[in-house]
Amino acid sequence: MLADSSAGPCSSLNTSQTVCCGAKPLRSQTVCLPCPAKLNIFLEVLRRREDGYHELDTVMLRTQFSDTLTIQQREDDQLSLRFSDATPDHLRTGVPLDGSNLILKAAEKFRERFGVRHGADFILHKQIPPESGLAGGSSNAASTLTGLRDLWYPDAADTVLHEIAATLGSDINFLLSGARAAVCSSRGEIVTPVPLKVKLFFAAVRPNQGNSTGAVFRGVDFTTPRLCSDGVVDCLKTGDIGTLTRRVFNRLTQPASVLNSEMSELMVAIQSILRRPVFMSGSGSTVFVVSEHRSQAVQDLHTIEVRLRRKGWLLEV
Ligand code: C5P
Repeated sequence: MLADSSAGPCSSLNTSQTVCCGAKPLRSQTVCLPCPAKLNIFLEVLRRREDGYHELDTVMLRTQFSDTLTIQQREDDQLSLRFSDATPDHLRTGVPLDGSNLILKAAEKFRERFGVRHGADFILHKQIPPESGLAGGSSNAASTLTGLRDLWYPDAADTVLHEIAATLGSDINFLLSGARAAVCSSRGEIVTPVPLKVKLFFAAVRPNQGNSTGAVFRGVDFTTPRLCSDGVVDCLKTGDIGTLTRRVFNRLTQPASVLNSEMSELMVAIQSILRRPVFMSGSGSTVFVVSEHRSQAVQDLHTIEVRLRRKGWLLEV
């Protein structure tokens, strides 16, 4: 759901083309889309809701770190999902390829909603690890919706895609919105884009163990006063990165640290090496530092990788 329609719709690189095969033209329809990872630079859990979800005030950023999803039209009405050959083995673990994957769920919902019975092969080139707080699966679902619109139903309205997205998960609407930055409220599905004054850079790394989102939410302490995203939003609007670093906050860090000691040890280690605050995205287990500019992020990442012998990512927004 878009609270403000100023963000453009997410679009795909449509590689549809007519291929000549002998005398008979054969229409080959393929779309290839990035599925960007999101980063939470502010996340407050306001209250537990009747439906079991939690009311949020969170600021999400769309990064340039992404999976890639290729969708190929099929002659029949089957839906299939596989990894690209280049997807590393360690990123395949924990990502189902059956009907429980959000890509196939999104495709089924799209067909149901628009009354189409076409089939498609989905090829997922995975780069974003699962259970990382980077919304890899949600981003795959968002790109499925925009890709299928391009292939099957160009008239599908943004509002309808957003309705489908909201039934599939809490982070999908933000990724569908195409906004670089937004305040997301309710379960996370109400998206209010925020203009970004400058480019943002983060050095991020993930411990081996991921976090279960549901388990992390169940550990939230509601006895302390709640914070508000306004301060972070002001920094994004003015481009004041120095102040931003002091305002980044995530209410889920405490319960996630209790559940994942490897993650909390990693945060302590990075903090002592870089002497700067370390934060967690979403429900984790990705942790990150805010860098003032690109060259500092490159240096931060290099330092983390060398000192901790662990591969990380430079996240650019
Ligand atoms: O919406 P999504 O499927 O990404 O959420 C995964 C799990 O995270 C939910 O089943 C729920 O346990 C928890 N969650 C929550 N409140 C939110 C978002 C997620 O409790 N606003």
